[in-house]
Amino acid sequence: MNEQTWHAVDDWFTERLIGADDALDNALAASAKAGLRSINVAPNQGKFLHLLARIQGAKRILEIGTLGGYSAIWLARALPPDGQLVSLEYSPENAAVARANIAHAGLAERVTIVTGLALDSLDAMLAEPTPPFDFVFIDADKSNNAHYLDRVLKLSRPGTVIVADNVVRSGRIADDADHEADVAGLRRYFEKAAADERLDTTAVQTVGSKGWDGFASTLVGA
Ligand code: SAH
Ligand code: DHB
Ligand code: MG
Repeated sequence: MNEQTWHAVDDWFTERLIGADDALDNALAASAKAGLRSINVAPNQGKFLHLLARIQGAKRILEIGTLGGYSAIWLARALPPDGQLVSLEYSPENAAVARANIAHAGLAERVTIVTGLALDSLDAMLAEPTPPFDFVFIDADKSNNAHYLDRVLKLSRPGTVIVADNVVRSGRIADDADHEADVAGLRRYFEKAAADERLDTTAVQTVGSKGWDGFASTLVGA
């Protein structure tokens, strides 16, 4: 068992369950051409997020960390025609690539990319009347995850689903000697999630084409 096997299994599933997809394939090709790092979710993970958002019946989705818009396309496709995805991205260059990829996917009307530091964008949303989001995907700088959770809860309602990416980091989450900022931020995220009585949270490890990592999933209660 090794990374090569994990990759082969992801390819096996992706070939059979997703296949060629012009919008998604274009998004990855254009992102690579623009020099973006290929740290997007894997295709089978993107489809998992898409299915979760559909199961939830989401009409308003918030994403923190757009990159080239790959996960945004999966999430926006889960929305009804009048649904909205708001995706927060620090880099104007990444946002420009994402906007083009989302337009190519025919989803421009359903997606708004807000550039700037995500904490600032979240605080700006909190400063004005903003309807709650039904589904939230947190996938930016992990050092800020606990702060994101704090803001996201104020933009949520009972029933909101919150998924955070990359919470395992090749096992580093459980290595007490690892004090790197992202890993420390992830631990604070779990501490906050576990301590909040309104929240039910679990985390599942994943292996695959993106290595060994995992998702945390939270249901907001009353
Ligand atoms: N969700 C994407 C991948 C996101 S990668 C996908 O799966 O397709 C993480 C992104 O978060 C990068 O584009 C990075 O520029 C952005 N980011 C990092 N720190 C940020 C911050 N403080 N505010 C907003 N975006 C940030
Ligand atoms: C990194 C970020 C991600 O969102 C991801 O899925 C993988 C890696 C990173 O910053 O290294
Ligand atoms: Mg990620």
